[in-house]
Amino acid sequence: MTIPLVDVHSQYEPLIPELEARFREVLDGGQFIRGPHFYAFQEEAAAYLGAKQAIGVANGTDALVLVLDAMEIGPGDEVICPAFTFYATAESIARRGATPVFADVDPVTLNIDPDAAAAKISSRTRAIMPVHLFGRPAALDELSQLGVPLIEDAAQAFGAPGVAQHGVFSTYSFFPTKNLFCLGDGGLVVSNDEDLADRLRVLAFHGSRDKVDFDFVGYNSRLDELQASFLRLFLTHLDEWNRGRREAAARYAELGLGDLVDLPLDEDGHIYHLFVCRSSARDRIREALVEAGIGTATYYVTPLHLQPAMRFLGNEPGSLPETERAAKENFSVPLWPTISVEQQERVVDVVRSAVGVVTRAGA
Ligand SMILES: Cc1ncc(COP(=O)(O)O)c(C=O)c1O
Repeated sequence: MTIPLVDVHSQYEPLIPELEARFREVLDGGQFIRGPHFYAFQEEAAAYLGAKQAIGVANGTDALVLVLDAMEIGPGDEVICPAFTFYATAESIARRGATPVFADVDPVTLNIDPDAAAAKISSRTRAIMPVHLFGRPAALDELSQLGVPLIEDAAQAFGAPGVAQHGVFSTYSFFPTKNLFCLGDGGLVVSNDEDLADRLRVLAFHGSRDKVDFDFVGYNSRLDELQASFLRLFLTHLDEWNRGRREAAARYAELGLGDLVDLPLDEDGHIYHLFVCRSSARDRIREALVEAGIGTATYYVTPLHLQPAMRFLGNEPGSLPETERAAKENFSVPLWPTISVEQQERVVDVVRSAVGVVTRAGA
């Protein structure tokens, strides 16, 4: 039995007739940019997330750059962020000419450690950018007490509880494997600050309200009408998908995977964008999974502070010990909303034989 790491197709397959109908409707309407679905999705997403404003943009990376621009963060400013995250987090900061200042992660949650972030605050710090990594909410209560504005990189966490409530801005990606995804690139910015949200909305449209007068040097970054029409449909299924992910995560624990490797369990908030485990025997386990035809991946094996493009910051190996340990030990096992019990049993069996532990039944 081969098992993929994720199976997005199984999520949209039952919805294909409805997706086709939406495509047809957008074709008939002929409004491919800033049409009715674009505006309706912004309203529906804002209502779902409990935010006053939502702005559809071209992708999750643009979302971050636009946020930093709207907050006028640039050269001479510092933004504190984790190094154990997708590159776009720090890239957006550097793209604005500001300095990413990396803080270590908590070894259990793999999210930015509030104490480590506090230790990096300087007179130049303009924001902290926590990432809700793999769908697990960062320690927002603690972080929001540090007296520095938060920008939540929620690319991996659409629908996780408590997310997008503390940040001046929160950003999302709809890359096709995300919990809420579209069938191409897409992104969203949400905010409760009406003035900043208004500025961002204008920035994303060439710095203009009407394409006649241009108030800022802006961007052309919009969520396509077609993608917005798909996202409106997918949003109505998100709760059921996130529930399926949680049930699958709990089932891995029931099947005994936690006796073999460290599991990323968190009943309160995690929505398991990915199910990323840890083990000092990571490479052996991965080899066995690959050999058995089971999807697995590692994440951020070269953490951002050690990436070639970030060398100019002068960070040395060993400077973020928990980040570097997580980079060596993490690996994912298959998880999607409708993964079957048999598939999960097979994954656990293969991991069990890789770590050389006898089955409970045989013990
Ligand atoms: C944590 C994080 N931030 C930002 C991004 C960027 O999103 P996008 O790929 O839509 O530009 C991603 C997505 O891949 C991500 O995982």
